[in-house]
Amino acid sequence: MATKARENHREDVAGRANVEDTPELLAYYDELERLEAGALWTVANKIEPWAPKSSSVPVLWRYEDLRAHVLRSVELVSPEKAGRRVIYLNNPGRRDHAAAVGWLYSGLQVMHPGEVASAHAHSASALRFIMEGEGAYTIVDGHKMTLGANDFVLTPNGTWHEHGVSSDGTPCIWQDGLDIPLVNMLEANFYVVHPDLQQSVGYPVNDMTHTWGNPGLRPAGAEWSKGYSPLLKYEWAPTYEALQRYGKATDGSPYDGILMNYVNPVTGGPVMQTIGASMQMLRPGESTRAHRHTGSFIYQVAKGSGHSIIDGKRFDWKERDIFCVPSWAWHEHVNASASEDACLFTFNDLPVMHALGLYREEAFGDNGGRQPLVA
Ligand SMILES: [Fe+2]
Ligand SMILES: [Fe+2]
Repeated sequence: MATKARENHREDVAGRANVEDTPELLAYYDELERLEAGALWTVANKIEPWAPKSSSVPVLWRYEDLRAHVLRSVELVSPEKAGRRVIYLNNPGRRDHAAAVGWLYSGLQVMHPGEVASAHAHSASALRFIMEGEGAYTIVDGHKMTLGANDFVLTPNGTWHEHGVSSDGTPCIWQDGLDIPLVNMLEANFYVVHPDLQQSVGYPVNDMTHTWGNPGLRPAGAEWSKGYSPLLKYEWAPTYEALQRYGKATDGSPYDGILMNYVNPVTGGPVMQTIGASMQMLRPGESTRAHRHTGSFIYQVAKGSGHSIIDGKRFDWKERDIFCVPSWAWHEHVNASASEDACLFTFNDLPVMHALGLYREEAFGDNGGRQPLVA
């Protein structure tokens, strides 16, 4: 019987699979396939790479290219019909998973004044980073938070949440970030629409920020044991001030400049169990050294302009642009301005990498720590 061509990932390296195809083996593989089985040595070198091989590619999404399309969705679909009116970022290597990079999803959502999205809950953890507009708010488990540009807000796994823009506001655009692809890959995703479609506000507006958002101070007697930060909103002004203050006390990281993680104030750990986030400041003229690490990263330029080199390719960015760094990709950042700082917001799956013991990091040793550009 004729045998069909099949994959065989051979490597001529001691300790790696290297079995040549023979008519007898090919017939044997066919018999195994009929039993829903296979010979590991034909695929071992593929499924056990020497180092992580991301199928994601580095991408820069220019806000000036996307913004008009995001606004146009307001004319094309209602939030009632669409559920959420979002243009999502679709990495060419991750289209099967609707992922922006790795196992992370991201999109740009728009709402007009007076619009309210229906309340819902899901197993995926979510965040929002506000890009423009006034009057946006989010309600999480009865806690209402008002939002302005560069504010960062959490809608963690399992919480009831809804978004809206007050009727005296302006059209608002924000970036959503979720671990939907990860939770789907783990086959653990549930989604529930709130039985009343909206939830009532049960606390004073911004109460969680007022309670938990005071530097170095924790309210006496306050308890919190959930797996995510009780400080559901991280405002831009104190975040930027913190970067400037920290910058007076440190030379910063050679790879990231002045970088501070958003944390759960109770544990000091990441804001949510699966997603971490940080804000970094590149000082005027700063040019970082390249490194790489496991974990997938999505950046949004919160302030300033410059460029990043990712796996040897240069990506020029300015305020509101979004770009991704796939796992184990070399990356370095440059602030283009000699007088102004530049700030990059990032969210990532580092909590997953750390929790599973999978975090690894490596400096780019050659060329003074700077990558040569590839054509
Ligand atoms: Fe949601
Ligand atoms: Fe990095």
